[in-house]
Amino acid sequence: MPYFWRMEKKVTKIGVLTSGGDSPGMNACIRAVVRTGIHHGLEVYGIMRGYSGMVENDIIRMESRSVANIIQRGGTILKTSRCKEFFTPEGRKKAYDNLKKHGINGLVIIGGDGSFRGAQIFSNEFDIPCIGLPGTIDKDIAGTDFTIGFDTAVNTAVEAIDKIRDTADAHDRLFVIEVMGRDAGYIALHSGIATGAENILIPERKTEIEKIITQLEEKERRHKLVNLIVVAEGDEFGGGNEVARVLKQRMPLLEVRVCILGHIQRGGSPSCFDRLIASRMGYHAVESLVEGKNNVFIGIVNNKINYIPLDEAIKKKQRISEEWLKIVKILAT
Ligand code: F6P
Repeated sequence: MPYFWRMEKKVTKIGVLTSGGDSPGMNACIRAVVRTGIHHGLEVYGIMRGYSGMVENDIIRMESRSVANIIQRGGTILKTSRCKEFFTPEGRKKAYDNLKKHGINGLVIIGGDGSFRGAQIFSNEFDIPCIGLPGTIDKDIAGTDFTIGFDTAVNTAVEAIDKIRDTADAHDRLFVIEVMGRDAGYIALHSGIATGAENILIPERKTEIEKIITQLEEKERRHKLVNLIVVAEGDEFGGGNEVARVLKQRMPLLEVRVCILGHIQRGGSPSCFDRLIASRMGYHAVESLVEGKNNVFIGIVNNKINYIPLDEAIKKKQRISEEWLKIVKILAT
């Protein structure tokens, strides 16, 4: 039997929280957790502002109607934070005592790898089973093909980049467009390929800046400078402004415009795909707690629910495959 099973105690009261950067679909996921919990006769509690709500006892009882009319909304009704105090033993002890006050004996954590690191430490210290669900626009978590929010974010980026191409084309201009992704280039990779960007710069791949400059010089000679460079904020230059600065330094006559898409990518109504995976994952998180699973991360791989121990989920990062790197090299060099 895998070691993430625990059979001794029955879960009766569960808490759900969203932590780290919000992502579209988090509300759909909360809704699924609450309604599946109620279906099983559990009491369900919403923990406000991520781990901060646990530390500060900001915990509310949730009923089926508490999650009515939220499936289509971006953000998270539970709010979110990156809580430093939870990463201290004192903070976690406070959090545990507060959960005990409510009788909460199972947790669902929707967030990114930082949130799972917190859950993993907490569940090793205290006897409260934790289930992690991937909620991040970055898609940088191993053990799942998709994370809640990625599809919406990347489509937001595609829509914006298409619009930028219209004006770039009208003026024969070079645009550097920065998308989110501090450590991961997935949004840049997918939005760049989908919009036919001429160059895509991601942290996972060395930027061949000399090659880009040679291409631009050639285009400049032909007065055909429509060129979209999609840059992940975490690329080796440190984002769009830096890339533009380097290009201007080498080609002073170049007219460059920089567009930073920023937090627009985090908001908005979730796509159908994000609502579906969020609902599916939320449902399975509660089923897992009811079945007695502990310290598990739940993802979707090849359209099947995938369970991996939280310990493993935090050790690995989702890597961009060689196949995608090759495609980028050929289509956007
Ligand atoms: O982790 C999601 C993410 O949107 C990253 O892509 C980005 O670097 C970061 O969060 C931004 O965080 P904040 O909202 O705290 O500035």
